[in-house]
Amino acid sequence: MNFIYDLIIIGAGPGGYRAAEYAAKQGLKVVIFEGAEVGGTCLNVGCIPTKTYVHSSSFDEARERMATVVPQLRAGVEGILSNPNITLIREKASFATTPLLKEGLGKVPVIIATGSVSKLIPVPGIDSPNVVDSTGLLNLDTLPKRLCIIGAGVIGMEFASVFNRFGAEVTVIEFLKECLPALDSDIAKRLRKQMEKEGITFNMQCGVKQIADGEVFFENKKGQTESVKADVILVATGRKPRTEGLNLETAGITLAPNGTIPVDEDFKVSTLRGDLEGSIYAIGDVNGKQMLAHAAEMQGIHVVNRILGKQDDIHFEVMPAAIFTNPEAACVGPSEDQLKEAGVSFECHKSFYRANGKALAMNETEGMVKLCTEPDEGRILSAHIFGAHAADLVQEVTAYITLGATLRQLRETVHIHPTLSEVLIGVN
Ligand code: NAI
Repeated sequence: MNFIYDLIIIGAGPGGYRAAEYAAKQGLKVVIFEGAEVGGTCLNVGCIPTKTYVHSSSFDEARERMATVVPQLRAGVEGILSNPNITLIREKASFATTPLLKEGLGKVPVIIATGSVSKLIPVPGIDSPNVVDSTGLLNLDTLPKRLCIIGAGVIGMEFASVFNRFGAEVTVIEFLKECLPALDSDIAKRLRKQMEKEGITFNMQCGVKQIADGEVFFENKKGQTESVKADVILVATGRKPRTEGLNLETAGITLAPNGTIPVDEDFKVSTLRGDLEGSIYAIGDVNGKQMLAHAAEMQGIHVVNRILGKQDDIHFEVMPAAIFTNPEAACVGPSEDQLKEAGVSFECHKSFYRANGKALAMNETEGMVKLCTEPDEGRILSAHIFGAHAADLVQEVTAYITLGATLRQLRETVHIHPTLSEVLIGVN
């Protein structure tokens, strides 16, 4: 007997709801399962709430704005999912027990888009009441006087920046030598130094050993034990795929050792029951490829195209990312260090915000652009930027890289004067 839907999606975050919207527009009948609010981590407790924090002048204003912005956007997603071709089922799906999923399995494609959850570190005291993850921090009613952040990755740096601006005393403890491991180390260092100037304390190359009575004990790079007292402790040491309760074993899906669902280049699950081969896809954080909302969205669109037998030319290797600290940082393509490690021939071109008229006028002179290109100002390979509106500048370079443009072509593109984007053509 035929199944009544053409596509089953599990999870209505950016990956799932965009895939549902796109598939429905192409005429597919979609059923989508969601066990919590639609919009996923990004809309409810991630990108959107944190960006309302970044653009608010106080903690109380941020809380108030979050309470209006998030439901407004959620209503927008509910609107998208009210398309007559889409059926939203508000429950958690399980391959073992959900009748509709069991019935459709093997008959129609399934997209797993269940996202990720915070990864806590296994140290004594991690379950103390004042230890929170990013969701817990966003749910606080009052601004903590002293905030200790474990991890100087994207989440740690964004919250350090914003809570310091709101007036909390912020201390960051990080395992590695530099913050933001994916960012060019030169740019990451400048950003950290700037944040230090604004009053944030960084303890680099330090490993947390224990949390007890509101005190975080860590070992510094000399092997000595130090401690920081805090009212709230944020653990921002990475995220892990959300697969609990899906009963993936029913479909014979084996997870990778790091908990991700292994997929091929078209996001087809690569380790599953033989008779289901090619019919189950995993997109977004759950496959661990690129833990970014926009990556999940594009992966979903690509999967729907594959299902429909349509070609596309999405360059997943050209994936821009931004860190919404103050100042902002953003990047696309490999860092200078990664290019060196890979033994690629390249040139590095730099410019600074302080030489830019608009940056001076905006009083935003702290910033730097680093472009790596093939030799002789050839094709652009990457851009790593810190400074005001870094994400917008990186977005422009993303278009050049995607189209295979050279630095000469970028220089010969007319840029509006006065704009920050002129920093790009100012590289030496
Ligand atoms: P992350 O992987 O970016 O950073 C985690 C940091 O914690 C690393 O620097 C690591 O060295 C450090 N760490 C791990 N264990 C530690 C320990 N025991 N003691 C001290 N430091 C320790 O993870 P994060 O920041 O939690 O973010 C999770 C994911 O969410 C990332 O993939 C990120 O890309 C994504 N995200 C993206 C955003 C954006 O694009 N703007 C915003 C927020 C999250």
